[in-house]
Amino acid sequence: MVGGVEVDNQIWLAPLAGITFASFRRFHRALGAGLVHTEMVSALGLKYKGRKTKELLYGGDDEAPCALQLFGSSADDLSAGAEIALEMREFAALEVNMACPMPKVTKKGAGAKLLEKAGEAAAIVKGLKRFGIPVWAKVRLIPRDSGDTTEDFCARLFEAGADFIFVHGRTPAQRYEGRASCAEVCGAARAFPGRIGGSGDCYAPEDLTAYLDGGCAAALAARGALRDALLIPRTLAALGAEVPEELRSPSPEAQKELLLRLCGGICGTEGERLALMTARRMLGALFRGFEGAPRLRRAGAAAASWGEMEALLAGFSFESSPQGGEKEEEINGADASLN
Ligand SMILES: Cc1cc2nc3c(=O)[nH]c(=O)nc-3n(C[C@H](O)[C@H](O)[C@H](O)COP(=O)(O)O)c2cc1C
Repeated sequence: MVGGVEVDNQIWLAPLAGITFASFRRFHRALGAGLVHTEMVSALGLKYKGRKTKELLYGGDDEAPCALQLFGSSADDLSAGAEIALEMREFAALEVNMACPMPKVTKKGAGAKLLEKAGEAAAIVKGLKRFGIPVWAKVRLIPRDSGDTTEDFCARLFEAGADFIFVHGRTPAQRYEGRASCAEVCGAARAFPGRIGGSGDCYAPEDLTAYLDGGCAAALAARGALRDALLIPRTLAALGAEVPEELRSPSPEAQKELLLRLCGGICGTEGERLALMTARRMLGALFRGFEGAPRLRRAGAAAASWGEMEALLAGFSFESSPQGGEKEEEINGADASLN
């Protein structure tokens, strides 16, 4: 049990806007993630019955446990949004985004702006407690010169009833640049044992386990899971869990099957356009180190529809790929989407 939620393990899929939609969450649950997150969903969008916003909530039992992340600027908005979401379906926890540094969110008083308004942030947490499920928050490190500390802010949220808090080891001003401070996140974790999860710069199993070793009760795979689709099962294996060989070091054929399964699911649920986009992104996150991978990625980048991509994948044979002379190249859709 972590943060009031029954989980299999402490390696979880982070909330990622535009990425952690239902099929993606289901895929990572099947790969072993102990818990998955929705992307941040606008509480106001739900309140004003936005169809597109509501679609972000779709998902089924096969992704449970799933935490719903909401963003908004006031206790009333968050409470109204949560009520509508929970009428639609169950979630394991309600999480408030107090971390997003993007101006389109902060200028409305939401996301990381709440780090400057501890009173409002605490009122939001308190208001959400009435739904009777665990209430979580995701915050960033508070800059040292701001007069407040990350620990003080977390203490306010815990006093208001928060069950768990993720700390991303960057300040809002850093956005996604520079190094995340695992040490500072772990400092907060030691101040609140069992109640802090860590996030930031988790690209390899040892990055995720460093947060657990430092005292965090869970660690989030975010951009790392986009660069290496198998980061979560590999981390679980490093932690000593029984992970099937085909997930720890799958053959290229097995990886092709995984990709076809993920994107076939997306095509059926979220649509063809997203299936193609995800397949392109995942081509950079799979087949790493295998001869022929760069050629497959180049061909995938040129595929004009999911149908073309599916045919390319189905017909691509790694055995018949040219031997040698090909360089691995970095394709990182997630980083590109931030620019
Ligand atoms: C494309 C993208 C979308 C993100 N969307 C969200 C979001 O919706 N909610 C949130 O709390 N954090 C979001 N994050 C932050 C991640 O959850 C994570 O905390 C951050 O990327 C740090 O981890 P990393 O350095 O291992 O990627 C996003 C990050 C990226 C790169």
